[in-house]
Amino acid sequence: MKIAVLPGDGIGPEIVAEAVKVLKALELPFEMETAAVGGSAFDAHGHPLPEATLALAKAADAVLFGAVGDWKYDKLERQFRPEQAILGLRKQLGLFANFRPAICYEQLTHASSLKPELVAGLDILIIRELTGDIYFGQPRGRRTAIDGHFPGSEEAFDTMRYSRPEIERIAHVAFQAARKRNRKLTSVDKANVLETFQFWKDVVTEVHAQYPDVQLEHLYVDNAAMQLVRAPKAFDVVVTGNLFGDILSDEAALLTGSIGMLPSACLDKNGKGLYEPSHGSAPDIAGKGVANPLATILSAAMMLRYTLNQPEAADRIESAVKAVLGAGLRTGDIWSEGTTKVGTRAMGDAVVAAITGKTTITKT
Ligand code: IPM
Ligand code: MG
Repeated sequence: MKIAVLPGDGIGPEIVAEAVKVLKALELPFEMETAAVGGSAFDAHGHPLPEATLALAKAADAVLFGAVGDWKYDKLERQFRPEQAILGLRKQLGLFANFRPAICYEQLTHASSLKPELVAGLDILIIRELTGDIYFGQPRGRRTAIDGHFPGSEEAFDTMRYSRPEIERIAHVAFQAARKRNRKLTSVDKANVLETFQFWKDVVTEVHAQYPDVQLEHLYVDNAAMQLVRAPKAFDVVVTGNLFGDILSDEAALLTGSIGMLPSACLDKNGKGLYEPSHGSAPDIAGKGVANPLATILSAAMMLRYTLNQPEAADRIESAVKAVLGAGLRTGDIWSEGTTKVGTRAMGDAVVAAITGKTTITKT
């Protein structure tokens, strides 16, 4: 088995190094190969997703991804910006199903900005469609308006679109995921205003006929955003389009205390996947050794479970993370009075120690 390791920009290399350390500690027979991606790849090779990186990602069984992006690339033409690397990988590898679990760990109930009783025990799964919608819809661009409120003026436009097969396949993924959990699925749309999302709602409702054992509800995205902070535990599995999923998954992340805790999986139709933390490259704290590596470490666990067929190894990582939190170790983003603040490396070392029982916990 081969894992492509793409650390990327900002805190990417620091957090990925910890996840790699944890994977190595499992002593399983897989090979890892690293390649450049994002702004750092643009600097070194003139493109955020160099040919060689794409080829490696395609050839590997799974991809472990850090994060991309830095303000210093904001002025570049869009095709050269770091974000194009992750969008390109999603598209080229056909990674249409994005799993973003939001789990509130018992020890972190007080790290959430919501009242502890609202988030204690929270365990929801956001399934975001990842290769369609306004993110990829053509046409898009800038032009001179020929109609609208200001004909003759400069305007920009994007296209929101979804085809029936795109909605059907993500709906199947979501219903099947709901079957493995509490059999409750919330489909989020904006059918009251958008044609694309009336169609989404209709198709999801049709697919539901094949899953009568799953309870389906529909929510408009504005209401879903509100319900997520009003009563998050009322949700189980949420399925939505690319744009709404981008926004709602960040919101859900914060319910758990810190986006620094949240892993994610992007899967293709055969279960091959790219695994990345739900957070970004955080250039403001890059290189300081303070970033939380747990989202990336937990992404590696998801990789073992969903793509590499090593559920026991995934359990070992997840239990180790719980043990480390139980021992009171915290990076800055989840630190609170009475716990021990540690840096990125010490957190990774502690997870390794909990897995192997060999090394001692270092404090920094
Ligand atoms: C995410 C990110 C990306 C997205 C960016 C970096 C392109 O926000 O994975 O949620 O918008 O999908
Ligand atoms: Mg996002």
